[in-house]
Amino acid sequence: MAARIPLILDCDPGHDDALAIVVALARPELDLLAITTVAGNAGLAETTRNACRVLTLVGRTEIPVAAGAVGPLLRSLHVAEDVHGASGLEGAALPEPACDVRPEGALELLRTTVLAASAPVVIAAVGPLTNIALLVRIYPEVLERIHSIRVMGGAITEGNATASAEFNIWQDPEAAHIVLECGRPITLMTLDATHQALFTEADVVRLEASGTQVATVFADLLRYFGQFHRRRYGWDGSPIHDALVVAHLAVPELVKSQSYRVEVERVSELTRGRTVVDLHGLTGLSANADVGLEVDRDPFIDLLIEAVARVGAAAR
Ligand code: BDR
Ligand code: CA
Repeated sequence: MAARIPLILDCDPGHDDALAIVVALARPELDLLAITTVAGNAGLAETTRNACRVLTLVGRTEIPVAAGAVGPLLRSLHVAEDVHGASGLEGAALPEPACDVRPEGALELLRTTVLAASAPVVIAAVGPLTNIALLVRIYPEVLERIHSIRVMGGAITEGNATASAEFNIWQDPEAAHIVLECGRPITLMTLDATHQALFTEADVVRLEASGTQVATVFADLLRYFGQFHRRRYGWDGSPIHDALVVAHLAVPELVKSQSYRVEVERVSELTRGRTVVDLHGLTGLSANADVGLEVDRDPFIDLLIEAVARVGAAAR
């Protein structure tokens, strides 16, 4: 059997982040070494608490968790309360957190975990990129031990934080620029990819059928998340952005991608955080990111349902 991929998940839970955690724990291809948190969907205290509540729910409180940046490098924090609610994870009865948040903080946990791992580590960064940019700047010696950085972020066409920009990149465009320039292989899962795979009410019913407490909680979370997507887009279903990044790492066939030069807009307020993807090589610059383009929806949705069932059965 192939070796499991050592993985650190940097996240801001968040409904889709919570599912990313579940996929990271459920998939046999992955070895989740640590979770680091960042402010984004909610404040840092909430996103850290939410990561711990999810780990408590699924009975995996041995996974180390550490809190990172309280806000973007240069800009003010704008949380996504309209999408994820005041706590960042509204809609379900999650348990009180029962894990000890590591005292050394996210940067130290990232550094020591990467350096101690027996193989180069993949970082899945599914919140604003503040922690990862700080890691690159403060501990550049870890870069050679990072296999690749898998990012949920960016928009080739429409944005969600603004008409032109996706939330994670818009929140901290300077951090995104630093990460894109860091020289390690980057995969970018933009809204153009994640919007192709909506988790519908029929899928929620299938997910619920495994009958565990974990399944009930995730069904409630997904129904809450679905309200926003129905309100804004009229969709019957939600893109599970962050989980797609982790699922793609486990099962590469889920997403077709292509390498492009990607730059982040950091000057204009109108287009702040826009990821400018050079689809036709007009800049003449070399590619710096592998960009997700086409998603195989049904197997991805099945993978999510199976991950919740697996983690739920193990938690009983
Ligand atoms: C991204 O923003 C957050 O709301 C989600 O968790 C996801 O990481 C989607 O734009
Ligand atoms: Ca997120």
